[in-house]
Amino acid sequence: MTDTDATPTEVPVADADWWRQATVYQVYPRSFADSDGDGLGDIAGVTSRVPYLAQLGVDAIWLSPFYPSELADGGYDVADYRDVDPRLGTLADFDDMVAAAHGAGLKVIVDIVPNHTSDQHVWFREALASEPGSPARARYVFRDGLDGGATPPSTWPSNFGGSAWTRLTRPDGTPEQWYLHLFAPEQPDLDWSNLEVRDDFKATLRFWSDRGVDGFRVDVAHGLAKDLVEPLRDANPKDFGLPTDGSDPLYDRDEVHEIFQEWREVLDEYDPPRTAVAEAWVARERVSLYARPTELGQAFNFELTRAEFDPAEFRTIIESNLELAAESGASSTWVLSNHDVVRHATRYGLPATTDGDAFLLSGGTSPELDRATGLRRARAASMLMLALPGSAYVYQGEELGLFEVADIPDDQLQDPVWIRTEHGLKGRDGCRVPLPWDTSSPAFGFGTHEPHLPQPAWFADSAVSVEEGDADSTLSLYRRALALRHQLQRGEDLTWVDDDPAVVHFARHDGWHSVTNFSTEAAALPEGEVLLSSGPVETPAGGAAQLPGETTVWLRVR
Ligand code: NOJ
Repeated sequence: MTDTDATPTEVPVADADWWRQATVYQVYPRSFADSDGDGLGDIAGVTSRVPYLAQLGVDAIWLSPFYPSELADGGYDVADYRDVDPRLGTLADFDDMVAAAHGAGLKVIVDIVPNHTSDQHVWFREALASEPGSPARARYVFRDGLDGGATPPSTWPSNFGGSAWTRLTRPDGTPEQWYLHLFAPEQPDLDWSNLEVRDDFKATLRFWSDRGVDGFRVDVAHGLAKDLVEPLRDANPKDFGLPTDGSDPLYDRDEVHEIFQEWREVLDEYDPPRTAVAEAWVARERVSLYARPTELGQAFNFELTRAEFDPAEFRTIIESNLELAAESGASSTWVLSNHDVVRHATRYGLPATTDGDAFLLSGGTSPELDRATGLRRARAASMLMLALPGSAYVYQGEELGLFEVADIPDDQLQDPVWIRTEHGLKGRDGCRVPLPWDTSSPAFGFGTHEPHLPQPAWFADSAVSVEEGDADSTLSLYRRALALRHQLQRGEDLTWVDDDPAVVHFARHDGWHSVTNFSTEAAALPEGEVLLSSGPVETPAGGAAQLPGETTVWLRVR
């Protein structure tokens, strides 16, 4: 990998704490906006939509990987960490995008994928061409098989199904060593005890920081340090959660924190320091270790992506994560949707016990999706999230109230999960369908060519151009909520108001209250000026104002 000359872009606001209360909008670049008509979204497409994002009122854009990739895992298989996939543009396009975002007052966060490279990465190609025991293989995890070579070196499973080991074969057909891939075979794991690997990622952090990016989202942060001492120990089954003592051989090992302490030193070379947020699927009480100010500074809290629309669950998640964030010195993070989970408008429109995978496998026909309920609850949950202290991560399309596209034909599915589970799980394509921007252009304004995943006809109802003209649309709700959040969001605490177990009610500063009624029955609406509500609030003639079911209201209480 070679560094190219960076064109530093000015970082507009030297505010080291900008991230603590930021709303960060996740762009999945290949599905956001296609400027050159090849069916794939691109960097210039993001630039063209910066005014939309600024008007929406978010503070930062996080771009999922846009690096050269053979797309074995939607770009999370990176062939070169310091370049732009030619199908998505050039480094000059990237600089233009950063300049446009900064010009509009938006920060830019990029994804960094350190657990594994693509099998097309120059290092892996070199490893394949080198002998067992060579320095080229030592950057990855190559091992001899057991039982004379034919059995994988351990029982470790891939997160996408099947074994985490793939055996190599020489050109003449002779089988040889196995290599580790915790995800797809096209994503070989790096060995983070190798100093060359460690130094190279620090160079990548500097490369993008020099180009003006404000922060990093760190993929599989909990997976880098592994216990590779032989005999390799069995990993803990994921269904039972990870141990909290760092004893799993693959995930959440204590040594991983040394890596992020080194990264913090690099991030702090910049003014303002670059931020980072860890993707770490670990036990709740260990998430905050990644978020310490001496490490990445922030970590995702994914608990709301797994919660039912239930007041007790929401309340417990909010309380415990605020406490943990306070302990680590970070601010909390909130996520309802992202590129890995079924969109929340769909989750909330299915019967509570439904497993989203079963719904996807039925092509979205069974159980039947209750769209009205799903959207009503999604709007209520989104407003609740946006009232919380900490950073809110908004996934592209949730501001339109998009549902999951559950009926993508099998032969058009791209997610390796579909292939690796031998069609046992549909995977994540349904939340990655290109966005609908308008109803009068091909591909709903996404681009001029057929998009890389098919868009359903019902996207027409949720296109940006349609929702912009509708004061009651979800887009209008997000715009108003984000504008208010900008005015009101300060401090990092809240005060609970306990008046009804079906209601989650808390007060922030200056009399700002957020009240969510999780039941289907109306509840009493506390007195105050209604600033915004996720659904219609009516005051019966001569009666007290009511908080309708499955609705959030923001109030100013004097
Ligand atoms: C987490 C990413 O969010 C997901 O999309 C990806 O498949 C895995 N990490 C592997 O990189």
